[in-house]
Amino acid sequence: MRFAGRTALVTGAAGGIGAAVVRMLRAEGAAVAVADRDLAGVEAEAYLPGDLRDGSYADGLAGAVQAALGRLDILVNNAGVITRGPVTETTDADWALSVGVNVEAPFRLCRAAIPLMAAQGGGAIVNVASCWGLRPGPDHAVYCMTKAALASLTQCMGMDHAHQGVQINAVAPNEVNTPMLRTGFARRGFDPDTAVAELGRTVPLGRIAEPEDIAEVILFLASDAARYMCGAVVEVNGGKPVK
Ligand SMILES: NC(=O)c1ccc[n+]([C@@H]2O[C@H](COP(=O)([O-])OP(=O)(O)OC[C@H]3O[C@@H](n4cnc5c(N)ncnc54)[C@H](O)[C@@H]3O)[C@@H](O)[C@H]2O)c1
Repeated sequence: MRFAGRTALVTGAAGGIGAAVVRMLRAEGAAVAVADRDLAGVEAEAYLPGDLRDGSYADGLAGAVQAALGRLDILVNNAGVITRGPVTETTDADWALSVGVNVEAPFRLCRAAIPLMAAQGGGAIVNVASCWGLRPGPDHAVYCMTKAALASLTQCMGMDHAHQGVQINAVAPNEVNTPMLRTGFARRGFDPDTAVAELGRTVPLGRIAEPEDIAEVILFLASDAARYMCGAVVEVNGGKPVK
């Protein structure tokens, strides 16, 4: 029960990794507020549905958790979108969506959460970046850039706010078996189960990650065990870096 008496906000809570984080945080005693566009079927202590591209919604989430649950100890910026293609095939809409959800929303959430956490004596923020933001991945130029931006923001915030007792770190997964990955395969005409199995053979560990493999590391970074980590970007890749 590492998180007994603590509260957490998880964005993208209805998605693959988000749902696992919510489940596991609650299993270890946290009261969890969930944010996503559609929260049907998600069990939590507080529900804050909305679209993270709405700046005032994103700005207000941390305060809404404090109002609903009394305090905010842990923020997991997990929501994300993936747009595909090189820059020459990236539309204005793809750009605005990717930057809005993957970069601007975490910025707004952190900007609001850090002072609340500092005032209550500390807290933990975990951002979900990607291996594809640490090295280039083919044909996802803007997605990779947004994840690089989030990794950099994490490194800077981790340093800037360490003195306030706010530990800010990121996890950088490679491929994870979630709706994001599976719908991408389906859209390109592949059977998701077959594609996931084939992709698993390219990973030294023998399979791509399940959401729980990533959630375990997110929980560690949110826990007191990570108290000396400030601005770390932890790759969780089964031995498969992006080449
Ligand atoms: N699946 C992978 O292979 C992989 C690899 C590396 C990093 N990631 C990152 O992990 C995180 C979680 O992804 P996932 O794989 O679980 O994907 P997912 O699609 O299953 O979940 C993402 C969630 O974010 C929510 N979301 C998206 N846009 C939103 C918006 N505008 N407002 C509110 N909520 C919004 C979606 O509704 C969804 O529930 C993302 O940041 C993603 O970039 C995923």
